[in-house]
Amino acid sequence: MINVSKIRKGVVIDHIKAGEGIKLYHGLELENVQGVVVLMTGIPSSKMGKKDLIKIETDFDLNMDLVGLMAPSGTVNVIENGQVVNKEKIRLPKHVRGVLTCKNPACVSNHQDLEEMFDLAGEDPVSYRCCYCDQVMELHRG
Ligand code: CTP
Repeated sequence: MINVSKIRKGVVIDHIKAGEGIKLYHGLELENVQGVVVLMTGIPSSKMGKKDLIKIETDFDLNMDLVGLMAPSGTVNVIENGQVVNKEKIRLPKHVRGVLTCKNPACVSNHQDLEEMFDLAGEDPVSYRCCYCDQVMELHRG
């Protein structure tokens, strides 16, 4: 298998569902990052069969809401001085700000300069409730 070096400092998003890594890459706009970014896809995994993985070797302020929505099976590893200093299992965010857009055309958030806010409404299927108009939106992934 192709070997990718360990990094000195940055973030490794591991255990991304196979096929979802490229979406997360674009969602996080990693094409704009000034630093080394590696997207690996189709890595054999004993737990997942196959997985994707992203390494970001730079200071990067990860939008955990976005990561939680796009890669809820994942793990975020923070690397400093070549060591994993924090490992966090990604979860669906309970509250999301500014990432989703309400699909209700009459919602005030679509007419005024307000930050979108949603609360997690259900996990199977994943759905979020708009905090302004109570519209529930199912998220379709995969
Ligand atoms: N990693 C890295 N650079 C480092 C340290 C770790 O790129 N300096 C990567 C590893 O290659 C791995 C991920 O970060 O993909 C997590 O590292 P580690 O916790 O050491 O691996 P595992 O024990 O396999 O992780 P898990 O238990 O979460 O499966």
